[in-house]
Amino acid sequence: MNSPQISTAFLALFLLLLIQTQTSLSYQYKVGDLDSWGVPPPSNKHVYSYWSQRHHFQIGDSLLFLYPPSQDSVIQVTMQAFNSCSISDPILKMSDGNSIFNITKPGTYYFTSGVPAHCQKNQKLEVAVPMANGIFLPPAGDGAAAGPGSAMSPSSSAFPIIFGPSAAAAERSAAAEVRMAVAAMWAVVIVGVFLVNLV
Ligand SMILES: *[C@@H]1O[C@H](CO)[C@@H](O)[C@H](O)[C@H]1NC(C)=O
Repeated sequence: MNSPQISTAFLALFLLLLIQTQTSLSYQYKVGDLDSWGVPPPSNKHVYSYWSQRHHFQIGDSLLFLYPPSQDSVIQVTMQAFNSCSISDPILKMSDGNSIFNITKPGTYYFTSGVPAHCQKNQKLEVAVPMANGIFLPPAGDGAAAGPGSAMSPSSSAFPIIFGPSAAAAERSAAAEVRMAVAAMWAVVIVGVFLVNLV
C-alpha cells in the first residue's frame, strides 16, 4: 500500500467514526430537569408535559426519575390507565427513588406515580419515541399494553398507519442534515490537507 491509499483508508475510517458517534449518542434525561419527580406545584401544573415536549427522545435514551422513595414511586401504565388515572394495574413499577427507565423501542410511554391521587394532581409524564427514521408510531389505542421498557410490537398490519413527519421529526432530520454537513466539511478539510501534502 502506498501512502495515498493509506491516507484514503484513514479518511474513510475517520468519517465513518465521525458519523457513527454523532448519530448514536444516547442520553439520560433527568425527568423534570431541576424539579424532582413529584406532584407539580399549582403554579407549574403542567411541568411534565412541557418538559417532555421540549425534548426529543430516541431509542437508546433513558429516563431518570429521582424522588424520595418514602414519598413517591414511578409506574408505567397504558394510555387508558394514564387518561383515567387508574394505578391499580401498572405495566412496571419502580420505587427505589433513583429509577432508570431504558427506552428500547419506539412508541408512546405513559408514566405516573404509584401513590394514590398523585396522578390526578398532574404527576403524569407522556414520552413519545419515534422509530429510528424519525417517524412516530401512533399511540396504541386498542388497549394493547406496552411491555416494560418496550412499546408497540412490530405492527401486525402490512400497512401500518404512520403519523406524517411531525415538527420534532423535521427538527431531527434538520439536525441530521447539519451533522452530515459538518461531516462533509471535515471531509473537504481532510482531503485538502491530504492534497497539499501530496504536492
Ligand atoms: C436500565 O438500565 C440500567 C443500567 O443500564 C439498569 O440499572 C436499570 O435497572 C434499567 N432499568 C430498567 C427499568 O430495567
